[in-house]
Parts: sequence; structure tokens; C-alpha cells
Amino acid sequence: AASLPLYGKKILVSAGPTYENIDPVRFIGNYSSGKMGFEIAKVATSLGADVTLVSGPSHESVVGYPIRRVDVISANNMYNAMHAEFNNVDVVIMSAAVADYRPKDVAEQKIKKENDDNMTIELIKNPDILKSLGEIKTHQLLVGFALETNNEEEYAKKKLIKKNLDFIVLNSMQDKEAGFQKNTNKITIIDKDLSMQQFDAKTKTDVAKDIINTIITKL
Ligand code: C5P
Repeated sequence: AASLPLYGKKILVSAGPTYENIDPVRFIGNYSSGKMGFEIAKVATSLGADVTLVSGPSHESVVGYPIRRVDVISANNMYNAMHAEFNNVDVVIMSAAVADYRPKDVAEQKIKKENDDNMTIELIKNPDILKSLGEIKTHQLLVGFALETNNEEEYAKKKLIKKNLDFIVLNSMQDKEAGFQKNTNKITIIDKDLSMQQFDAKTKTDVAKDIINTIITKL
């Protein structure tokens, strides 16, 4: 309805891990559940936004919500999906846990066990999706995440600047209520003017509300 605060706004959200193939049956992945991004997508939809959710492999569901879901596997897939939508949207929230590296070569057949006790997989860097969007952004509000284990505020501020973001959501792995595969999260929002807002630990649904409210104040 026209009275909702995000009515008429197009929001692009990424969620979940990426899987980087090693051979036809193996991949390099991470423990991201996708929960945070799915909650953000649902809260934004409930407030009237037109939401596209680009998700890596996740057990989360958008059934019952009018969300357009684009499923991807790898970082390169996600890069293409995000860039395909970018020019049409007002806001991008990049909450996916994108693999920084992928195997340089993907074996066409299942890799066989050898007699050698060691084996090496050579990795090459994936594109930084968020940074690439920051380089071409015009009117879009761009939001990133940072998950750090040490010097967290300093690293998050560096990322915010390097990736040309409007704000960054920092969650600490040091906090037992925060992080991967939890239903709760504890965040600090750092604005591009470097002002910080700390929030209490809460459910990912309530964290999503805090993030979306911050976006609403900036639109
Ligand atoms: O640099 P770092 O990976 O810590 O930055 C985290 C932020 O950058 C997250 O918003 C994540 O979704 C995004 N990212 C990305 N592409 C990558 C790596 C991270 O968009 N290859």
C-alpha cells in the first residue's frame, strides 16, 4: 500500500554462502545459513518494498512473501545476478558470505585419491561484488556487512571507505549471540560519516528491522 514507508522502492538483497566447485561432487563453502539476508528481505517486503533476493545455497524459504528469489551457487554467479539487477534498484544490501577465493581449475571428473598423503588445490581470487557495485553506483544506497574477529571497528571503517558504502553493519564473532547459524545477532552500524550506532543482541528479525529503519531514514 502507498502508505508503507518503502512503497515504490526497489531493494536488492544478497544472502547465504557461495559454493566454489572443486570437481563435480565437491566444493569449498562456508557456514552461512542465509538467515540474516532472508530476514532483511522479508522485513523490507512487509514495509512495501519490491524485493529481489539473490541467494547462495540456503535452507531458508520466502514462501508466503512476494519476494523475487534468484538462486545462485558461486561468487561469479552472484556477481552476474547482482550486476543484472543493479541499475534497476534503489538500495542494495549485501549480506551474503561470498567466498574470497575459488579453485583455479575445476576438475571435469571426480578427483581420485592418490598415494601421496598431501594434495594441493590452487585458488584464485573471486571478484569483490560489493566493491564492484561501489565503483559504478549512481543513486543507489549501498549497504555491506563486516564480520571480524579482531580490530573490528577499524577494519569495518576501512571496508566502508574502500567499497564506497553508505553504511556497514558490523557483527562480531567474539559475541556469543552473534554470527553464523544463530538466530540472534549483535550489530554496530557505521555510517559513511564514521558515526557509530550500537545495538543490543536481538533476534535476526529485529536486527533486520533496525537495518531497514536505518535505510528508511536515508531514503
Ligand atoms: O572484505 P569483506 O569480505 O570482509 O567484506 C564483506 C562485505 O563484502 C560483505 O558485505 C560481503 O557480502 C561483501 N563481499 C562481496 N564480494 C566478495 C567478498 C565480500 O560482495 N568477494
